[in-house]
Amino acid sequence: MSLRGKSVIDLSDFERFELRQFLDTGHDLKRKQKRGEPHEILKGKSMAMIFMKSSTRTRVSFEVGMTQLGGHALYLQPSGTQLGRGETIGDTAQVLSRYCDVIMARVFGHDEVMGLAEFSTVPVINGLSDLLHPCQIMADMMTIEEHRGNLEGQKIVYVGDSNNVSNSIMQGCTIMGMDVTIGSPKGYTPSEEILKKATQLSKRYGTTLEVSTNPDEAVKGADVIYTDTFFSMGQERSKEKEDALMAFQVNKALVGKAKSDAIVMHCLPAHRDEELTSEVMDGPHSVVFDQAENRLHAQKGILALIV
Ligand code: CP
Ligand code: NVA
Repeated sequence: MSLRGKSVIDLSDFERFELRQFLDTGHDLKRKQKRGEPHEILKGKSMAMIFMKSSTRTRVSFEVGMTQLGGHALYLQPSGTQLGRGETIGDTAQVLSRYCDVIMARVFGHDEVMGLAEFSTVPVINGLSDLLHPCQIMADMMTIEEHRGNLEGQKIVYVGDSNNVSNSIMQGCTIMGMDVTIGSPKGYTPSEEILKKATQLSKRYGTTLEVSTNPDEAVKGADVIYTDTFFSMGQERSKEKEDALMAFQVNKALVGKAKSDAIVMHCLPAHRDEELTSEVMDGPHSVVFDQAENRLHAQKGILALIV
């Protein structure tokens, strides 16, 4: 079955074989790019990119990715468009669909990206919402395959604040057969709704899904340790949350409790010596910059199949 025309909003909308197709296409396009083989399969195609929040990786990797595929990407911000003056998401989606072949959006509320997809007649890609970050996890799974050989049966442990990144890990990694553990302090564990959905996926795919409030217990036997910022974009800093999350910092002692060859991941941007020590981030277990690079290749894989 073809993925053409399908929006990428939430990884739980996909079957394992579909995510596999995205990953394989990403790996294939990466090989082609490294060998210098032309792969301008989206010549003449345009992508609108709406950014309601800041971005370095998502913006640059999508824009460069479209260029490498022979297409073109437009960077749109509320301040420079009528979105900032109150034109609705629905009207914007209908207009952009008349010009562009795909829309990518980074938004606050998840309903905003859902609204775009509802009114758009071209596929919509979620470039991060407060709830989910699907493209990040596709790049991360490519990275895990490169470093660990496969996904199935590997144990990924996310430690820190339960957020858009951990929510997408619970979906994407479970669908691909990984055992997932979320280690978060009380009060910062995954929402009931996300947990329920991920539990259903884990039953379906025969994997384990655990939530722990003890970081040392959580990382036992981990093949992959993953962390992210204490405060996501749009969240207020608080001393209470910072204190709770400091106990979940990914440092040398915590990494020492995982498998000896475990890899350490972070979607970036990192807040050095908060959620992750510089020693670990720049150390031998870290693959954070490979992850960042794979945003480019994974998203090219997605674009190649849906556009
Ligand atoms: N990881 C990620 O999405 O980075 P940016 O916020 O820089 O896009
Ligand atoms: N959880 C982070 C991810 C940034 C890429 C945020 O939403 O700010």
